[in-house]
Order: sequence, then C-alpha cells, then structure tokens
Amino acid sequence: MSKKSIVIGTLAVIVAAGAGYFVARKQSSGSSSADIATAQSLLSASRAGASGKGDAASLTAALTGKTITVKPGEVIQNAVNQAQPGDTVQVMPGTYNETVYIDKDNISLLGVVKEGQWPVLDGMSKLNDAVLYSGNGIRVENFKIVKFKGNGIMGQAGNNFVIRHNWIENTGVYGIFPQFGQNGLIQYNVLSGIEDAAIYVGMSDNIQVDHNEVHGNVAGIEIENSRHAVVENNMVYDNAGGILTFVTPWLPIKTTFDVIIRNNFVVNNNHKNFGAPGSIVSGVPSGTGIIIMAAKDVIVENNVIRDNKNSGIIVADHKSFANITIDPDSDPYPDRISVLSNLFSNNGYEPMNEIKALMVASLTQQGPDIVAVGSGSGSCMVDRAAHATLGISSWATTCAKTTSADIVTLLLDKPATPRSTETVTKGEVLYKGICAGCHTYSARMIGPPTQIIQALYAGNPQGIADYIANPTKKREDFPPMPSQGHLSPEMRKAVADYMLTVKK
Ligand code: HEC
Repeated sequence: MSKKSIVIGTLAVIVAAGAGYFVARKQSSGSSSADIATAQSLLSASRAGASGKGDAASLTAALTGKTITVKPGEVIQNAVNQAQPGDTVQVMPGTYNETVYIDKDNISLLGVVKEGQWPVLDGMSKLNDAVLYSGNGIRVENFKIVKFKGNGIMGQAGNNFVIRHNWIENTGVYGIFPQFGQNGLIQYNVLSGIEDAAIYVGMSDNIQVDHNEVHGNVAGIEIENSRHAVVENNMVYDNAGGILTFVTPWLPIKTTFDVIIRNNFVVNNNHKNFGAPGSIVSGVPSGTGIIIMAAKDVIVENNVIRDNKNSGIIVADHKSFANITIDPDSDPYPDRISVLSNLFSNNGYEPMNEIKALMVASLTQQGPDIVAVGSGSGSCMVDRAAHATLGISSWATTCAKTTSADIVTLLLDKPATPRSTETVTKGEVLYKGICAGCHTYSARMIGPPTQIIQALYAGNPQGIADYIANPTKKREDFPPMPSQGHLSPEMRKAVADYMLTVKK
C-alpha cells in the first residue's frame, strides 16, 4: 500500500547515499569537563601504554614526549614520519597543501592558533583527504580544513581517537569519518558544506559526539552500523537531514544499537540537497530533523526539534525501502525507540508527498513531529498527545527508562585494545576500515557493490591491488575512487584478496 512508499522515495536514497554508509557508565556530571577529562585520560593512558584508567598525572607525564614543530613552508607529513609513538606534531599557523597519513600509534597532531590565525589544511579542490589515520590513540585538534574532495579527517580502524576543535568546510563526501574504530571522542568541531554526512561514525563502538556545530551539509551527524554512541549538545541546523542513526544493509557490521541522542538543537534542517548531481545522495529529501532506521535501543531526549519542514523525526524499517535488498543478517526493524521529553515545534509544515498522503489517510492536516513507517516493536513516546504524530498509535505512552541522565558517557573506562594486525586479518581490517566506507556487499553506496567488483575481478586480486593504487575513471555516474596509493603493495594485495572473499 502507499503507506510503504513514504520512505521509499525518501530514505532509500539516504541509505545508499548515506555514504553510501562499548560501555562505560561514569558517575559524574557537567558533561563538557567530564568529556575532556575522559579524552585526556584515554589519551594519557594510551600514550603511557598503561592499561589502567589515566589521570591528570599520567597526562602530564605523556606530555614529556617529543614535540616536533612544523612551520609554514614545511611539510607536516615529514614531521609525522619522524614522530615516535607518544610524540606531538605541532603545526604553526599557515597554509599546508597536503594529505597527512598517520599509520602509527599515539600521535597527537595539534594545530597552534595564534592571534586568530589557524593552521589551514587546504586541498585546493584537488586533493582527496586532509588527514587519514590508521593508528590508535590519535588526536587531531585545532585545524581549519578546507576544499578537499574526499574526507576531512578519516579514521581507518584506529581506536581511542580524539578529534576536537576543528573547523571543516567543503571537504567532499565526509567531514569527520571514523570508520571501524572503538572508543572515540568527536567534540567542538564546526562543519559545513559537506556533500554527504558532516560527521559520519561508521561501524564503530563507544563513541561520544558532543558540542559540534553542523550546518549547511546534506546530512549533519550520522551514527551508522555502530553501537554505544552518545550524540549530545550539538547544534544541528540548516542541513537537508539533521541527525541520522541507521543500519545500512550489506556492510560487514550488521547492527546499530544503544544510541542516545539528547540535548541537541535540531532546527530548520531544510537545506537544499546539494549532493553531487547524479549521485544517490542527491536524492535525500530535505526537511527532516532525526531519522532512525532499523536501529535498536535508541533514546531521544531533551532535544529542541523545530522548524524541520518534512518531519521532526522519521522512524523506519528496511522493508519500507524499495531499493534496498534486505540483508538476511541485519534485522530490518527499528525496535525499542524511546522518545522521551523533547521540545517539538513547527515541524512537518511542508511535508513530502508521501507524508501528505499519510496525513490524508489519517485524517489530519497537521504535519508530523514524528512519523513511523513499517514495523518495529517495543517503542514508546511520552507526552504523545502533545505532539503531531503519524504511524505510532501502537507505541506505548510511557517509557520504562524515563531518562538517560544516569549515563554520562558510553566511552570506555580505559583504552580499547588495538585491533589485531596479524597478516591473516590485515586484509579484513583494511577492508572494514577503508573500503566499507564506500562499498557494501550488494548495494550501491559511494562506489559500486563488492559483488560486482568480485565478478569483474574474479581470480585477479592483483588487478584490484593495481587499480586502487591509481584508480582511473570507469563509470560516468560515480564519483572518482580515491587513490589508496599510501598503502604498501602487500597491504593492497591483502585487501584485494579479502575483497574477493567477502560473502555479505
Ligand atoms: C571514498 C569512497 C571509496 C573508498 C574508500 C573506496 N572506494 Fe573503491 N570505488 C569507489 C568509487 C566511487 C568507485 C567507482 C569509480 C568509477 O567507476 O569510476 C570505486 C571502484 C572500485 C573498484 C572497481 C574498479 C573497476 O575496474 O571497475 C574497485 C576494484 C575498488 N573500488 C576497490 C576498492 C578497495 C579495495 C577499497 C579499499 C582499499 C576501496 N575501493 C575504497 C569509491 C571508493
């Protein structure tokens, strides 16, 4: 029936486009200082190589690591190459036109802002990525990052990361993109002009995203195929879609659960969609505050959700998506969504046609603060009668958990152990950490599905290894594939071998 089609035009696109795209409950209050303390302790502990929880003293000790200073005219990568784990690379104000690769552990890349002058990483609309890290314990702070084609800051299977105080504009597909990482903090960043998701947390665990300002992007903050994430105190406005939490089918990690979205301003996300013409993301409908698809155990609390013209919140299952082939290993339903107290106002004033049709069917003229499409169970919304709702009459009107205030953070108490890098698993870590950001098994994301690549390159891993070192344009309707030439020939061969064996 036509109810189903509501999300079809809408969200299918987001998913594909979406980029195609653990638990410490601490006892403290005052979130920002707690966050910083957490960041410091996880950094210091990881820097010191300690397994216990770090404290201020160990942070100070860690700061005795060597500091290498980079001045304008010099190359940041040279300093990173010289740095040893525990060292800080300090970058003075000025403009740097390079991609910085960090493939060792416990490196802090710290910009120095002086009299309002920032260190600027400028990709000149030619370079793909500003910072790519695959080490653990990486910190990236105080950079202005502009005009890249791929990503601002991308993490590839790095754990215990801190990305703070960066100002990221117009960096292509993603702004801040930790992929397949555990235990990471993303805070006090400002991001705009990103063609897909400004902050895209992909296949990651134990993540804290707070006090960021994301505006003028296609998607603001996305928590995708990730678990144990808190998204709080962010300003999310003027994007096409504000905060998204999803399961994208056919990625190697199959679930999204335990996500808290609270104390955010999700306002006026009505930006025109400016995804690259012809790309799938260009179909994301503007005007939606929060989208929850097939995620479980999500709490939405104390947000200000207003003036989003399509809907304040959309909750959907995979089956409502026409273009999505159901992944038998991903449960398609959004379950146990708790919408607690939030301020809703003036949402849904200019809904898309499919929502209008639902309104007609429901005999209402009021556009929705929240609309649910498809199935799902165990969800609840408090104060339901106070808000304009569609499709949630089966939801409970009280929630078992009345507040998330007892959960200060879902970051770990101590640093996560690094992922295994033994040869046997290297290809897998690389695939999940890099390739799965753009390739799913059977659905189009940014790049073509892995299944199709397997057909093209059956028995020819070296062909893949060679292609990714120097990708050429193959398809008119896809963006260019970024070079993976920074990977050694053995790493390229390992990931190619793995790509050919992926089964789902
Ligand atoms: C930022 C997104 C992105 C990432 C990350 C990415 N790819 Fe791609 N890939 C693409 C796009 C886009 C294309 C299609 C390019 C075209 O057809 O012109 C593509 C195409 C390919 C192809 C097809 C080449 C052909 O002959 O048709 C292969 C093989 C491939 N990628 C392998 C990989 C591997 C291996 C990785 C991980 C190391 C990877 N890609 C990471 C975006 C990405």
